[in-house]
Amino acid sequence: MSKVCVVGLGYMGLPMAAILARAGHEVVGVDINPRVVDSVNKGECPFAETGMPELVKEAHASGRLKAVTVPESAEIFVLSLPTPVDHTSHEADMSYVVAGAKSVASVLKGGELVVLESTSPIGATRRDVKDVIEALRPELVGKVDYVFCPERAIPGNTLKEMIGNDRLVGGLTPQATARGIELYKSFCKGELLEASTEEAEMVKLVENASRDVQIAFANELSLVCDKLGLDVWNVIRLANHHPRVNILTPGPGVGGHCIAVDPWFIINQAPELTPLMAAARGVNDGKPQWVVEKVKQAAPSGAKVACLGLAYKPDVDDLRESPSIEAVRALVKQGYDVRVVEPHLIEWEMPLYSLEDAVKAADVVVTLTGHSSFKALDRSLLAGKGLVDSVGMYR
Ligand SMILES: NC(=O)c1ccc[n+]([C@@H]2O[C@H](COP(=O)([O-])OP(=O)(O)OC[C@H]3O[C@@H](n4cnc5c(N)ncnc54)[C@H](O)[C@@H]3O)[C@@H](O)[C@H]2O)c1
Repeated sequence: MSKVCVVGLGYMGLPMAAILARAGHEVVGVDINPRVVDSVNKGECPFAETGMPELVKEAHASGRLKAVTVPESAEIFVLSLPTPVDHTSHEADMSYVVAGAKSVASVLKGGELVVLESTSPIGATRRDVKDVIEALRPELVGKVDYVFCPERAIPGNTLKEMIGNDRLVGGLTPQATARGIELYKSFCKGELLEASTEEAEMVKLVENASRDVQIAFANELSLVCDKLGLDVWNVIRLANHHPRVNILTPGPGVGGHCIAVDPWFIINQAPELTPLMAAARGVNDGKPQWVVEKVKQAAPSGAKVACLGLAYKPDVDDLRESPSIEAVRALVKQGYDVRVVEPHLIEWEMPLYSLEDAVKAADVVVTLTGHSSFKALDRSLLAGKGLVDSVGMYR
């Protein structure tokens, strides 16, 4: 077992740190946010995620997980830092990864393994981690191993997937790959797949771009079916009876830290070759506005609108890139009297209502996130109201 420094204790980094501690490693978690550090040092998980309160408590109690605000020397460093996209230029913002690499550079001695887990453009492990470290510490050239190992877990089921999913291990050298495999073998029950660093970077992006294109197909179908007076959910259900057809589910758009962001990293690196991926982004990004147009058809500005769900997917509190939020804000801007229901949050920028109160008062009900708890709604409350059912919940 090794001393591992996990840099970035967010939705992915903290589960990784706690899992490593449970596997027997001595783990130092690093985060620039002192609130996160305090919380981990009290044995508490600062965000909602199945199994995490128990695991962080256990890892903290074992004495193998502590958190600090600056890295300390270790044998292995895992960078789990944000890689957002600039919404205007569509360029990946690698500044968090570069800052993390710089902070690690100052404590390296030579002989360490540095792993990048953040979803990144092709070439990032070399350019934004290795080159950054070597520019600051030229004496370490050839003395540190670098690996790209993308995170594939999904919020809501992170722990299970982090342990169970197959992983790609893309070292810059065969030795780096072997060391990466050794690390992931200590807790990962999935298959560990060797790849070149750049292949591993590309595969992660391709996985999410593929989902984005497939969801865009379903979303485009939803527009066409609506225009033709057809029930898209029924059309998809029937089409999926074909043995080689598997159409995904339409919704109010695409959100989350990954699918709405990562395709841009590919498009941006080869814009002339990616019209399909760019069109898919356009279809998915256009869907919240379509929801707004449907509300406008149902009732004039000033009407009471119940918006059900803010999270980007069912049964989580994650709001990142959520198309539901875009639709809510656009409705408010259009002068609607919007009542938001989000049972997974205690507070938000607007007041939150109970499902029943919001629906009872509404002229139009809009479903934006398919939370399980919404299914229990007494359907008779919808009688006489407009319904824009973007997630197909009350059909
Ligand atoms: N959340 C997901 O569903 C998911 C899934 C797969 C891959 N990923 C990828 O994993 C990476 C991390 O995502 P996340 O969701 O965990 O992000 P996050 O925003 O939840 O967490 C990142 C953490 O890093 C901290 N941080 C920022 N700069 C720092 C620095 N210089 N030093 C130390 N800490 C710093 C932040 O305070 C934050 O707590 C991203 O590249 C993301 O695309 C995320």
